[in-house]
Amino acid sequence: MKELLKPEIQRFIKAHENDDPVTLIFRHRDIHGVSIKVIATQITARKKAKTKLPEWYASQGVMFPPTISMEQCSSEATAKYKASIVSGKSLIDLTGGAGVDTYYLSKSFEKVTYVEQNEELAAITSDNLCSLGATNIICKNDKAESFLKHTPKVDVVYLDPARRDENAQRVFRFDDCEPDVTTILPDLLSRADTILIKASPMLDIESSVRDLKFVHEIHIISVENECKEVLYLLRQSEGDNPLIHTINIRKVGERQSFSFQKSAEISAQAEYGLPDKFLYEPNSSILKAGAFKSIAGVYNIKKLHAHTHLYTSNAEVTDFPGRRFRIIDVVPYNKKAVSSYLSGKKANVSARNFPDEVHAIKKKLGLKDGGDIYLFAFTDKEENKRIAITEKP
Ligand SMILES: C[S@@+](CC[C@H](N)C(=O)[O-])C[C@H]1O[C@@H](n2cnc3c(N)ncnc32)[C@H](O)[C@@H]1O
Repeated sequence: MKELLKPEIQRFIKAHENDDPVTLIFRHRDIHGVSIKVIATQITARKKAKTKLPEWYASQGVMFPPTISMEQCSSEATAKYKASIVSGKSLIDLTGGAGVDTYYLSKSFEKVTYVEQNEELAAITSDNLCSLGATNIICKNDKAESFLKHTPKVDVVYLDPARRDENAQRVFRFDDCEPDVTTILPDLLSRADTILIKASPMLDIESSVRDLKFVHEIHIISVENECKEVLYLLRQSEGDNPLIHTINIRKVGERQSFSFQKSAEISAQAEYGLPDKFLYEPNSSILKAGAFKSIAGVYNIKKLHAHTHLYTSNAEVTDFPGRRFRIIDVVPYNKKAVSSYLSGKKANVSARNFPDEVHAIKKKLGLKDGGDIYLFAFTDKEENKRIAITEKP
């Protein structure tokens, strides 16, 4: 693997990074004695790393791990977020993998231990962490369960369990993952006051809180409005009313954040209203968190219907954590009513609490994707099916 770092190989990889790896495999057998298949894997990984791991992509001396580890690893953006919510003297990352989380978390701790059961992966990551200049990380090739038995106490233990079956399209429960955090929970809590666990956004939050028992904080992280991961922060006492932080990290503009407590959401009373001048759609972290009533109260906006998660106001709320539109008109659900507002039959269509799905709405209204008009199909508080015709403010 280390031959990959030879200058002539690195030059080849960079010169061909926009080429199709399969075509390269057909054209070459090896490059300066290194198998083209190994090189092609690096080229594929660099394509992924360009946006997912920009710092690693730009660094000299990083050998990207096998494809599965590149897919499983956190992104630079979400790893940096983790490093902003925990800090202290010592941390153990029990499921180190490609080491992305370990690397960024190491910036918030004096000493970090990386643990990974896969020998080859642990060796690649150890070299990479060295190349990246991380001097406070010790790498161990071990199983989390056995490592936990003999390690001294630390401030924070972090886990990002691997999904056992990467292809299945089902909800991943903790006991579908390796290690199963619910079975090693007593050992985890005996080794650190704070445990941070990363889980898939597909996992139901309420059942996760029940399974993990000691959850004090939940962090739901989206990047560019796509929900990427949910973090559960556990402490020594049982937690039944965790603080829920919703975050949307954006390339342009500040990160959006909104925090609330489950008990506050349960007791909140949202005001309902018909569409006014502005329309708001919360970001995907808020929708995943279910902060449907709290968000209305905090931003002083009205909800369109108990089950329609769209909001409206007369005065513009510029710091709303989600998308915001100016309402041009609200019309019945038919082609004639909509078409007078559209030139070129193009619109960006969304549906919330509506009987038809987006593809059926586009078909019925004769629309194609695109343009500057945003259509929201929704049910209003009087149970009417309506189309809000909107534009960016
Ligand atoms: C989702 S990946 C971690 C990715 C990592 N957070 C990153 O950002 O690069 C999970 C890793 O845990 C490792 N793993 C699974 N079960 C383990 C166990 N019992 N002990 C140690 N490592 C384990 C897998 O080999 C895999 O590399």
